Amino acid sequence: MNVSEALETRLTVRGFLDRPVPADTVRSILETAKRAPSGGNLQPWHVYVVSGDALVDLKAQVQARIGDHPTGEGTEYHIYPPNLSEPYRTRRFRIGEQMFATVGVAREDKFGRLMQFARNFDMFGARTGLFFAIDRQMQEGQWADLGMFMQSIMLLAREHGLDTCPQEAWAIWYKTIGAFLKIPDNLMLFCGMGIGYRDPDHPMNSLRSERAPLEEFTTFVGQ
Ligand SMILES: Cc1cc2nc3c(=O)[nH]c(=O)nc-3n(C[C@H](O)[C@H](O)[C@H](O)COP(=O)(O)O)c2cc1C
Repeated sequence: MNVSEALETRLTVRGFLDRPVPADTVRSILETAKRAPSGGNLQPWHVYVVSGDALVDLKAQVQARIGDHPTGEGTEYHIYPPNLSEPYRTRRFRIGEQMFATVGVAREDKFGRLMQFARNFDMFGARTGLFFAIDRQMQEGQWADLGMFMQSIMLLAREHGLDTCPQEAWAIWYKTIGAFLKIPDNLMLFCGMGIGYRDPDHPMNSLRSERAPLEEFTTFVGQ
């Protein structure tokens, strides 16, 4: 698989098969992903790989709390800017609509939407979860580095026949996860990522998200 194929076939998978990912495969993906670039070669990423009984336990702990606390424990960072402007607001709205449409959940169906959101905390069935954290002293540049590391993992996963689901949703349970994984105080949880085998029959995996045309985000200067 070449890089373009990995990019073209990567999507956010929201339905995984109940099949474990070999630990060696995850290790190999991380070994290669660590070649991701970072400003000043800081390599500011920290990743926790959670599988087996540990992931079952962590999911159970969070799921036990969702009912009473649907918004979790708050977040340590803004997942989205507080007053999202256009065109970002519409894009966010559209992907939500399209996602819920794949499983027949209507806009007015608040409960249905909540139930779908709660599937985040089963990691959509993934049997291995990655949790990404970053040192609190790091600034915007290093958060971008972490993103490049994550994208490297997502593309390498494709090469191994695996799929991924990056999940900021876990950030609303940062206290529970921090305690469970014993994340040191100097690190901040950024997000989780399910990794596993795509369920080809899950309706949510049929969603091919839209992208704005090149002209909307590119400025060519010169020539
Ligand atoms: C950092 C990050 C966090 C995300 N968090 C979630 C999440 O919590 N739950 C979810 O279902 N999708 C999440 N997504 C997936 C995005 O909705 C998805 O990437 C976007 O709609 C584009 O679709 P695609 O990944 O299928 O191309 C996240 C993506 C990124 C990059």
